[in-house]
Amino acid sequence: MKIIILLGPPGAGKGTQAQRLMSERGMVQLSTGDMLRAAIKAGTEVGLKAKAVMDAGELVSDDIVTALIAERLDVPADHPGFIFDGYPRTVPQADSLDRLLAERGFKLDRVIELEVDEEALVDRISGRFSCGSCGEGYHDRYKLPKTAGVCDVCGGTEFKRRPDDNAETVRTRLAEYRAKTAPILPGYEARGMVVRVDGMASMDSVSASIAAILAD
Ligand code: AP5
Repeated sequence: MKIIILLGPPGAGKGTQAQRLMSERGMVQLSTGDMLRAAIKAGTEVGLKAKAVMDAGELVSDDIVTALIAERLDVPADHPGFIFDGYPRTVPQADSLDRLLAERGFKLDRVIELEVDEEALVDRISGRFSCGSCGEGYHDRYKLPKTAGVCDVCGGTEFKRRPDDNAETVRTRLAEYRAKTAPILPGYEARGMVVRVDGMASMDSVSASIAAILAD
């Protein structure tokens, strides 16, 4: 079982690379952002609590996201592994993840930090959209559907944009990353777990770097 954390600010490419690892290696993506958006869509109590916080670009409480993660970790030892995408995002979340993994006898293999230029992130995020049917991700300039208006994967014709994907909210999300998420790195660095990848390279090149890290 491989267990990795993809770390990086909003728009660094965590979701893009996690999706590729899922389809290529069968590893399971655990994205707290996706789980929270699903809860909002389903109108659950968690969704109701999370919506205004997410729309403002701030962080949802540690207890809520850790509970979402915990309920997905009860798997057999021959499971192909997990890619944590957007979790942990605070020092208490990193401590909780250590505890959750230790309780199950699982071991974190790597923390892969996608290094990016913050100005490019505003551009990446404000151009992002996805298929309303299957969720395949696209971008106004970097990844358009092969046939305009038709999803490459499922043929769907409805597309959507996230409510928090606007320049103003992205700046709040970046500030939250710097203030609350970046401080988790020194702890992982002290354990020799962090590998850095140039997240400004092409998607294929980032995937190749991650594949090389996982082959180690
Ligand atoms: P979340 O859903 O986790 O969003 P995020 O971290 O802000 O990250 P994004 O999904 O925006 O970016 P990404 O790095 O996945 O980039 P992507 O691959 O899509 O969180 C949303 C909110 O939920 C938070 O603000 C918070 O409120 C809440 N939340 C979630 N988890 C939480 C937690 N643990 N604790 C508390 N609150 C939590 O790529 C972006 C775009 O760039 C795409 O269009 C893509 O096509 C393009 N792209 C990707 N890679 C490249 C490349 N190499 N070159 C060019 N373009 C690229």
